[in-house]
Amino acid sequence: MSELKGHLRNLFTEHFGAPRSDAVLIRAPGRVNLIGEHTDYNGGFVLPMAIDRAVWVLAQPRADDAVRVFAAEFNQEATFNLHAIERSDQHLWLNYVMGVAQELLALGVSLTGMDAVICGDVPLGAGLSSSAAIEVATAFTFLHLNPQSSTLNPADVALLCQRAENRFVGVNCGIMDQFIATMGKAGTALLIDCRDLSYRHVPLNLRGHCFAIVDSKVPRTLASSKYNERRAECEEAVRLLSEYTGERFQSLRDVTARQLHLHEKQLPNNVRRRAMHVLGEIVRTEMAARVLERGDLRLFGKLMNESHESLKNFYEVSCPELDTLVDIARSLPGVLGSRLTGAGFGGCTVTLLRRDCLDTFLRELPAAYERAHGRTPAIYVSEAADGAGRVAP
Ligand code: GLA
Repeated sequence: MSELKGHLRNLFTEHFGAPRSDAVLIRAPGRVNLIGEHTDYNGGFVLPMAIDRAVWVLAQPRADDAVRVFAAEFNQEATFNLHAIERSDQHLWLNYVMGVAQELLALGVSLTGMDAVICGDVPLGAGLSSSAAIEVATAFTFLHLNPQSSTLNPADVALLCQRAENRFVGVNCGIMDQFIATMGKAGTALLIDCRDLSYRHVPLNLRGHCFAIVDSKVPRTLASSKYNERRAECEEAVRLLSEYTGERFQSLRDVTARQLHLHEKQLPNNVRRRAMHVLGEIVRTEMAARVLERGDLRLFGKLMNESHESLKNFYEVSCPELDTLVDIARSLPGVLGSRLTGAGFGGCTVTLLRRDCLDTFLRELPAAYERAHGRTPAIYVSEAADGAGRVAP
């Protein structure tokens, strides 16, 4: 970490001169979702944890309204004015920063300009929420540079970052990623009830086990169009089930298993399958949090496996590479459960396994995956980390 801080400081000095004493250093983590997939926008439960990879911002205020940002991962510098915010087609990463600034201004938070360097080690586009990490890091940076101007709590920050992504970046994501990036706590997963945003930190008593995240390296080209399609199918399920039952459901969370069962034959095939996944996954996720609290890792792993099967067969967001990764993982010693994580259509899997079997896993899994698909996966073993915050520079 001190290496990373030194790197950030050097980059800052190169672009804007040596940082002054009013500079702030902010960190916002990526995440892995342990279970509860495609449930957040259905008002259900999710159980993510923040990972020990993060986006970092070193920034200091300016006397004017200019925001100058150097993004280390793209080796690009770009500037915008707080009073003339417009989407950039040239610097797509800047849209996350501008979107957040716009949402803060819309809430009446008064902002000063800033010089900032952004860098990080959350792999981009791998489904570990680098976007939410940039948004949350940006929001925290603006808020720390303008401390007198707002009384936003962390949930407000998560919501405004989600709006930035929905409205400005144009991705219709749910609340999970921004929420865990702000509210994560080391050593715990976070059970979020996405209907009312109540939450509970669930201690990860892993007793000699760990979570391995495997990046399939499959580009998530279909992810955003298919994601929107799934959201529309869920809305259709809510509309039709409301009509059939005479109830006024707000989301699939309000539908009981019995109501779905009574009317499932009336639903179009795809809509029925999506609803079946969502209802099952909501129950699994709440149960998973309870079994984790009890320390029943075997049952937790079984629920992870069931989640994957449901995402594959009912929600249809897996792909051959993710299925292969899950199959290989489950065939290896010490593995309790494995599933795709995030939106699907590429990205990562998450596997719960015994720590003393990790070496075998790290050796066997890439070899078998390469044989099957000719791609080299990346593997990250992460502890649960803290959510976003200011760090001593
Ligand atoms: C993406 C979205 C989240 C959530 C997951 C699927 O990560 O950003 O809001 O919907 O997909 O669980």
